[in-house]
Amino acid sequence: MASAEGKFRIRRPNTRPNPRPVAAGPPVEIRIETVGAQGDGVAAHGVFAPLTLPGELVLATVSGGRGEVLQVIEPSPQRVEPPCPHFGVCGGCALQHWDPAPYLDWKVEQIRLALGRERIETELLSPFAVPPQSRRRVALHARRGSSKDTARLGFKERRSWNLVPIQVCPVSHPRLVAAFPALARMAAPLLEHPKSAPTLHVTLTDAGLDIDISGVEGKYSGGLSADARMRVAEAAAAADFARVTLDGDMLYGARTPSVRIGPATVALPPGAFLQAVPQAEQAMAQFAVEALAGAGQVADLFCGVGAFALRLAATAGVLAIDSADGAVKALASARATAPGLKAIAVQTRDLSKRPLLAQEMTKLDGVLFDPPRAGAAEQAVEIAASRLSRVVGVSCNPATFARDARILADAGFVLERVLPVDQFLWSPHVELVGVFSR
Ligand SMILES: C[S@@+](CC[C@H](N)C(=O)[O-])C[C@H]1O[C@@H](n2cnc3c(N)ncnc32)[C@H](O)[C@@H]1O
Repeated sequence: MASAEGKFRIRRPNTRPNPRPVAAGPPVEIRIETVGAQGDGVAAHGVFAPLTLPGELVLATVSGGRGEVLQVIEPSPQRVEPPCPHFGVCGGCALQHWDPAPYLDWKVEQIRLALGRERIETELLSPFAVPPQSRRRVALHARRGSSKDTARLGFKERRSWNLVPIQVCPVSHPRLVAAFPALARMAAPLLEHPKSAPTLHVTLTDAGLDIDISGVEGKYSGGLSADARMRVAEAAAAADFARVTLDGDMLYGARTPSVRIGPATVALPPGAFLQAVPQAEQAMAQFAVEALAGAGQVADLFCGVGAFALRLAATAGVLAIDSADGAVKALASARATAPGLKAIAVQTRDLSKRPLLAQEMTKLDGVLFDPPRAGAAEQAVEIAASRLSRVVGVSCNPATFARDARILADAGFVLERVLPVDQFLWSPHVELVGVFSR
């Protein structure tokens, strides 16, 4: 098992008061009982207190069921010094103050609780946890800086739309962090329209940084001025970025951004989905490939650019389907870069409106589905009605996964085992891969 330990694990108790206390009633002492699904401590009577841990006695102002902690009176022995100076203000992380072992146990417990609500029991395997500095994708927000020609770049504040300017991020790959100043320089011309609130979706690829920008006003009423476009391109060239696009349209292109997925090289379409951490992608894919071993023909539903399909195709023919046409085409082209692979047939199709039907699965030996957070209820109904006996589900939302697992369980499937994956380090989110059979 990989772990989130290492240079960021500091065991000194942190009794820093919350940097953003809000005025509410008079301060009261509250005892934290547990940590809720969003990563906040929970005290008696359902009072949520961010940045606290089970067992702690804290002094907090309480308003509308939310406590803002002024002081940790009795810190938990599991409290550790958060590695990031922005922690507590930045909304990106919720749980840096928790020792890695109970933190990981809590993540696994979130899966057990979600499945329990659907009366599903399973074997929860030892979790795979990504290390710090491994995230290859971030969404950074840009706002006007101190002068017209500068921009501030950062993440959203905890429980606010305000921006926290970010200098460091222990979650992100160091090459992303090193590019923050250059990204801020490139963002300045994006703010020429007063209503623009740009978000830079930045992906570290094998060819360098790929940036897709959204939230720029005026694009369809004249768009960025020619001058702003030129300044963006100049900043991108100076920083040696691979590509910059605005809502998918090219602003600057030096090289085609690409990533290795299994044996193939995938040329990424602008804004394409990619698993946030390559080590997590690798671990999930390996687990899924093992679960479907021996199958001659499989489907990869919600395939994206092929994180699973391109690895499954080492031993099985694959039918790969996604609603994002650019991703599907990129997957089809990537297949040609790895000559040893079996055939990959691709389809662009909305699987919520037009799920792969049970009768379309008659030639399949197994199916993998990896939907967005909303889950794959419509698709699960068709899998349930099929003759399939081997299914792998991948999900970043245990609640919708459990709902879909219930549909399969009602049709005789057993959820044999689940691999929890801590892909979103120090956030309350948890990813999982589940193996079903009947
Ligand atoms: C969590 S991503 C998984 C992608 C891929 N399996 C991977 O690991 O990189 C979910 C994918 O579902 C696709 N998607 C979202 N809604 C869809 C729908 N209604 N029908 C088909 N695909 C959809 C997205 O384009 C995205 O590629």
